[in-house]
Amino acid sequence: MIRLDKVTKSYRSGKVKVKALDSVSVDIKKGEFVVLNGPSGSGKTTFMNIAGCLTRITSGRFFLKDMEISHFPDHFLSAIRREKFGFIFQQFNLISGYTTWENVSIPLLPMGISEKMRKKKAMNLLEELNLETRADFYANELSGGEQQRAAVARALINDPEIILADEPLSNIDVENARTVITVLEKLKTKGKTIIISFHDSQPLITKLIDRMVSFDSGKIL
Ligand SMILES: Nc1ncnc2c1ncn2[C@@H]1O[C@H](COP(=O)(O)OP(=O)(O)O)[C@@H](O)[C@H]1O
Ligand SMILES: [Mg+2]
Repeated sequence: MIRLDKVTKSYRSGKVKVKALDSVSVDIKKGEFVVLNGPSGSGKTTFMNIAGCLTRITSGRFFLKDMEISHFPDHFLSAIRREKFGFIFQQFNLISGYTTWENVSIPLLPMGISEKMRKKKAMNLLEELNLETRADFYANELSGGEQQRAAVARALINDPEIILADEPLSNIDVENARTVITVLEKLKTKGKTIIISFHDSQPLITKLIDRMVSFDSGKIL
């Protein structure tokens, strides 16, 4: 599903050049549940951003479903992102002037789906995440854990094939984490490909993991 072949990603800030990823090769199969692990600054977010077509690689090759897409134009990459990926970030990134259900349905806006249908889809997901009673609250009226659950619903509304979750459990308590993990478990049984990152160990999730990829200083251990 996702293949990186000797991928390097460098950032330059002033005179300092950082290799955020240093010749990394990984092959992630359809339906795999992969955990990215490693200390802060080891390259997990950079890997996620490349896998999700949010950042371009500096060198190497990047394949999505056996198609090398490293050099595809921006509009093509954003179409792929909209269609195939669900992103869950460490910061929830909800828009405060919108209600919970509206935030959840935002990815459907470019698809020209009616408001009634958008709300219906959003409500189904909010129910799954035990958040239906907060549907009409504004995003800034939600607790941190509720915001993260809403962000998870938003990531899933386009029924993505691939879910990228960057430290999704870092800023929430155990109860909220359990709800998110239950949803991830369901996605796994549906055959979705899931990549999730942690900077610490997450015993709650151990039974779901197919593979752990450990990063250190931009390299895979
Ligand atoms: N946009 C950027 N500009 C410059 N350096 C960056 C940028 N993004 C990440 N880095 C650097 O790349 C390295 C890896 O960062 P990151 O992928 O965010 O690690 P992690 O998610 O494991 O904490 C770090 O040293 C970080 O400072
Ligand atoms: Mg990170």
